[in-house]
Amino acid sequence: MALKNDRFLRALAGQRVDRTPVWMMRQAGRYLPEYRASRAHAGSFMDLCQNAELACEVTLQPLERYELDAAILFSDILTIPDAMGLGLYFETGEGPKFRKPVRSAAEVAALSVPDIERDLGYVMNAVSTIRRELNGRVPLIGFSGSPWTLATYMVEGASSKDFRHVKGMLYAEPQTMHHLLDLLATAVTDYLNAQIRAGAQAVQIFDTWGGTLSTPAYREFSLAYMEKIVKGLIREHDGRHVPVILFTKNGGQWLEQIAASGCDAVGLDWTTELGNARARIGHQVALQGNLDPNVLFASPQAIRAEVARTLASFGHGEGHVFNLGHGISQFTPPENVTAFLEALHELSPAYHQ
Ligand code: CP3
Repeated sequence: MALKNDRFLRALAGQRVDRTPVWMMRQAGRYLPEYRASRAHAGSFMDLCQNAELACEVTLQPLERYELDAAILFSDILTIPDAMGLGLYFETGEGPKFRKPVRSAAEVAALSVPDIERDLGYVMNAVSTIRRELNGRVPLIGFSGSPWTLATYMVEGASSKDFRHVKGMLYAEPQTMHHLLDLLATAVTDYLNAQIRAGAQAVQIFDTWGGTLSTPAYREFSLAYMEKIVKGLIREHDGRHVPVILFTKNGGQWLEQIAASGCDAVGLDWTTELGNARARIGHQVALQGNLDPNVLFASPQAIRAEVARTLASFGHGEGHVFNLGHGISQFTPPENVTAFLEALHELSPAYHQ
């Protein structure tokens, strides 16, 4: 199946495009009324993820509404710990929680790598269903959490502000933490390779909490495991290169090290200037980002000005995938996304002439 729109894959490869490709982290989600309707119909978030037809329906919703250059699999990073038996559940308004958090060396020792086909086969069914329905319209992105980010949820048992349990384990029992991260790196590698075999045409690793670590701890407990994953991924499938994007929220100061990991692109949040990032890494990898999602609460004029500033910061030439610097807020007015994309599609061609 030939791709009708390959801007996203071309930009990741540093190739010429007619305009800057764009997708949004969390583009399928609660800010869209049609998503809220599908979720109400499904009953729960996990029911949506586990039903391939429904997961496909919500994956396509943002593409029906907006001119986006990639689809992202509708699922969650916490499917892996769920498959490891931690009992994922969502309490309304409180975010994800685990019934059985992992707090001790004995609890870590009792864990094993999930059987991807048996325990996460529903994700691969969603991937192949989405690929079939996309019919080559845009590429499909698969994803996973980074080992460190998954470990934070597994040890804390929920979202956290201070990470005292997981960092307590890291400093008190580094060998236990390494054992857990190693297990997760194997699980993530198997999981992403299964997504690629099922049809994911690029993959992104979300390291949402890597930026909470010290510089040496980031290297040792987050980046090292992402590097290991990158080395183990299928990089050529169906006659195409499969690009890997690493996104460490708040990781701008480690850009050079992330870019040297073997990935194809680095995702940046808004705290790093794109132009500065480009000057630091040159053509080594592509850059993805990095509009502050809160810009989407401003007027169309202010949104346009920030889009213009972001494009100008990266500057003329190739290797930029436009995105938000983090997931879109559930409170975003959908029409402001239209204003954002209209501005981008109007202003970005000038940067590729
Ligand atoms: O980007 C997409 O459209 C694909 C789907 C996707 C979801 N979660 C759907 C989702 C992706 C890529 C994720 C990644 C994810 N999940 C991350 C990494 C990215 C980031 O934002 O840093 C993290 C940390 C999670 C964990 C998670 N899942 C949280 C913290 C929450 C609840 C809080 C929140 O923002 O909603 C979820 C639930 C979740 N995952 C929802 C969606 C659409 C909302 C569930 C609902 O419908 O109530």
